[in-house]
Amino acid sequence: MISRKKLIAGNWKMNKTPADGVALVRDIVAAVGKQTDVEVVVCPPFTGLETAGQALEGSTVKLGAQNMHHEASGAFTGEISAPMLRAIFTTHVILGHSERRTLFGETDELVNKKVLAALKNQLRPILCVGETLAEREAGATLKVVQTQTERGLEGVNKDSVGSVVIAYEPVWAIGTGKVATTEQAQEVHAFIRGLLARHFTDAVAQKVRILYGGSMKPANAPELLAQKDIDGGLIGGASLEARSFVELVTAAIAAK
Ligand code: 13P
Repeated sequence: MISRKKLIAGNWKMNKTPADGVALVRDIVAAVGKQTDVEVVVCPPFTGLETAGQALEGSTVKLGAQNMHHEASGAFTGEISAPMLRAIFTTHVILGHSERRTLFGETDELVNKKVLAALKNQLRPILCVGETLAEREAGATLKVVQTQTERGLEGVNKDSVGSVVIAYEPVWAIGTGKVATTEQAQEVHAFIRGLLARHFTDAVAQKVRILYGGSMKPANAPELLAQKDIDGGLIGGASLEARSFVELVTAAIAAK
């Protein structure tokens, strides 16, 4: 079996000024900025990307954005494009986060355009999928995840899908303190990997990292990260403090 390098990504959401972000990145870099066992990505808000990028220079920590527009440039007030992100050394971009889908009306079709634009610009998309509580209770979890994954990856070929990271984030577990059980998470992760094998090849499916997101904390991470198909975490709340984020990276190193 191919062993996938675990990935811990911090989604800061709408938190941290550039100065606060630099201070956080410095602490992260001091603790885990030289290790290469686990891939670490920080995703500040747009205003803090460049300075955070400067603060992590020379370390193994990478820079991610939280969103982008699918066009390269033009009359799109308030938007940021893939080439702009690349110009400040961003390597990853979170796309289709449930907050973008529910609060800002992003559809699978739009998310797919962004995924294709990211890949075209050598940015690694972190494509988020996940069901709401109502969908889980209606027994629709796998169907929802299937639709979001398939539509999100439409037009992506098997040579580039290895660059995509998928994040399974059950919406009911985000910021609520309710974490999916390891069985619930592993079931969906294995299902997503099966979908990838069906649509691409088994070898490709074995290469793609599938992260868990939703109230992941140092206390619950070791059990989640020990699951066969859980390749890391997309962390919200616990990524805002160096101590908890570093503990999560350490847990991923121990689980590798
Ligand atoms: P929390 O870790 O705060 O639940 O957020 C998860 C998330 O949405 C990461 O993208």
